[in-house]
Amino acid sequence: MSTPSTRPARKAVIPVAGMGTRFLPATKAVPKELLPVVDRPALQYIVEEAARAGLPEVLMVTGRGKASIEDYFDRTPELEAALEKKGDQSRLDAVHESSDVAQVHFVRQGEAKGLGHAVLQAAAFVGDEPFAVLLGDDIIDARDHLLEQMLAVQAEHGGSVIALLDVGRENIDKYGAVAVEPTADGGDVVAVTGLVEKPPVDEAPSSLAIIGRYVLAPEIFEVLRKTAPGRGGEIQLTDALATLVERGEPVHGVVFGGRRYDTGDKLDYLKAVIRLAAERDDLGPALRGWLRDFVTELPAEGASSS
Ligand code: UTP
Repeated sequence: MSTPSTRPARKAVIPVAGMGTRFLPATKAVPKELLPVVDRPALQYIVEEAARAGLPEVLMVTGRGKASIEDYFDRTPELEAALEKKGDQSRLDAVHESSDVAQVHFVRQGEAKGLGHAVLQAAAFVGDEPFAVLLGDDIIDARDHLLEQMLAVQAEHGGSVIALLDVGRENIDKYGAVAVEPTADGGDVVAVTGLVEKPPVDEAPSSLAIIGRYVLAPEIFEVLRKTAPGRGGEIQLTDALATLVERGEPVHGVVFGGRRYDTGDKLDYLKAVIRLAAERDDLGPALRGWLRDFVTELPAEGASSS
């Protein structure tokens, strides 16, 4: 059984090798992680979150058709020279944001065999220390400090920590679901006693779903190597975590009550764009005014729109 680690997590792994089938046809040519949320790719928000949480070393697990992700985080000397020549400092700063935010490394997942398999590709980069996993299509609002809290829980208890969201029982069959017990920490920190990937609604242990933030003990790699394909024929990170729980390793959950957007889902993506744009100083005033008018013109649900 692992003891609380004296070494805090320093590295972040961001899997971005999935096929993004929910966002077809756009994702035939553009990785869903690069779809713009206002004017920056979803992935930029996620790398910034890792850097803010004190994890400046980032490994992205990419795959075929995802080379544009590597380009995005690289320098662009021609573009920078052109902007410099024009004296366009604000756009130059925006261009630098992507290459300066963190030290980004890449490894390929030859075949999209599931999230667990993607995480396993990070074993050599991570070594024998706890590390964070941030899903490349899951944005947590910058004002909500979920990852920082999870890192603190991991530093205190050791083992692994997962982010949980109450999605309501009717939606739980789209997620990894967990059984939990309260802890002495109280409030939003729970002990995870069981996990199951996408259970039927009537078999789900709770309405708490696993969302895209994890702080994992390095023991996960040894378990993942032995984890057989599960739900959907994919190697599931949820199944490997279930094995850790069965072995008596500590797995805690932090129940999130803040703002989260699954940008791989079309409706959530639209909500993210509208909310984040409406809150910005440059776009917000005009967008909010337009939205108010637009909403008053909308027909009631069920009414004819002609
Ligand atoms: P998702 O299940 O949301 O990704 O995985 P997906 O398979 O691309 O999505 P849909 O359902 O087909 O639309 C969550 C994260 O894990 C990555 C994805 O890129 C995404 O960031 N992932 C998933 C991998 O890196 N490899 C995989 O084999 C599967």
